[in-house]
Amino acid sequence: MSTLEIKNLHVSIEDKEILKGVNLVINTGEIHAVMGPNGTGKSTLSAAIMGHPSYTVTEGEILLDGENVLEMEVDERARAGLFLAMQYPSEITGVTNAEFLRSAINARRDEDDKISVREFIKKLDEKMTLLDMPEAMAERYLNEGFSGGEKKRNEILQLMMIEPTFAILDEIDSGLDIDALKVVSRGVNAMRGEGFGSLIITHYQRLLNYITPDVVHVMMEGRIVMTGDAELAKRLEAEGYKGISEELGIELELND
Ligand SMILES: Nc1ncnc2c1ncn2[C@@H]1O[C@H](COP(=O)(O)OP(=O)(O)O)[C@@H](O)[C@H]1O
Ligand SMILES: [Mg+2]
Repeated sequence: MSTLEIKNLHVSIEDKEILKGVNLVINTGEIHAVMGPNGTGKSTLSAAIMGHPSYTVTEGEILLDGENVLEMEVDERARAGLFLAMQYPSEITGVTNAEFLRSAINARRDEDDKISVREFIKKLDEKMTLLDMPEAMAERYLNEGFSGGEKKRNEILQLMMIEPTFAILDEIDSGLDIDALKVVSRGVNAMRGEGFGSLIITHYQRLLNYITPDVVHVMMEGRIVMTGDAELAKRLEAEGYKGISEELGIELELND
């Protein structure tokens, strides 16, 4: 079993404190959801875990099986087993999807253990079929001209090909129609298992109808203010974030 542990994490962007002491422990075999209103620091949390240079960790720790993640370079974090599906995936001209995936897989493997072309194609075929992706998408430039839904599907393809230990999925449901939502959920559910843990960040409860989380955290104003099981997400759907913020006496800055 692997564990990703976030302890008292404080993160600033340009001297403004966004995360104000986040605590979170995720084990492989578990899917956690982080829900919260816009502007509350959800993407900041994912960026800090992955080591985005604009986000400064001012206090606290991130440990992967006890190893200090904050001391690792971005690529080391990926090799250590962390993966981020971004809220806004970037487009890369000149690199095809297939080339990108193959180098991403190989970058995480030892020199004498690179994936063979045959094995790669077989795996790619299998995952693209599961995600209802047309074959031609493998040869298109990474995310270039992809629709919002195609980009999200492509993030899940990366997840399934790379098979990280821990995946942070930031708003993978945003902009998806119901069919695409089902496909994306099918991909994440196929990853479920003893060797995989995930942190699903979402604004809406809708995605959690398809991917049932083991643990649900509510984030407000840079902190996790409530933790529960899948029922908590349903309560949020019924009451909105207002119900919980009033109960806890938290004044929400309205960013929506
Ligand atoms: N690059 C940035 N520069 C300045 N402020 C930022 C930047 N990115 C995010 N913020 C601010 O940090 C806060 C948290 O943003 P974010 O983590 O994206 O929230 P969420 O993902 O929960 O919607 C917001 O107030 C946002 O305006
Ligand atoms: Mg966000």
